[in-house]
Amino acid sequence: TYVIAQPCVDVKDKACIEECPVDCIYEGERMLYIHPDECVDCGACEPVCPVEAIFYEDDVPDQWGDYYKANVEFFGDLGSPGGASKMGLINKDHAFISALPPQAG
Ligand code: F3S
Ligand code: F3S
Repeated sequence: TYVIAQPCVDVKDKACIEECPVDCIYEGERMLYIHPDECVDCGACEPVCPVEAIFYEDDVPDQWGDYYKANVEFFGDLGSPGGASKMGLINKDHAFISALPPQAG
């Protein structure tokens, strides 16, 4: 799977959403999350993020390793919705994202 990391927090550019052929990039309150089971590893999202927040799972920088877990655990209570657009804004974040101080602006 691909993973969204810290640069997305409080930015949420959403250019990535337009590129994903399987609609598996879900919007939380402070960042977006890639569904680890729905992502087909096409990689189309990675180059379009203006803040370079998206990485293949094996390429996540060490300091952002927790974001792999955040992208997986975000879906712990959601299961596999099978499409982000119908879900819209999901009013939560992973607990460790919620605890971060403001990251941008
Ligand atoms: Fe976030 Fe970049 Fe997508 S800022 S919403 S990962 S385009
Ligand atoms: Fe979609 Fe990016 Fe995966 S475009 S299929 S989330 S690699």
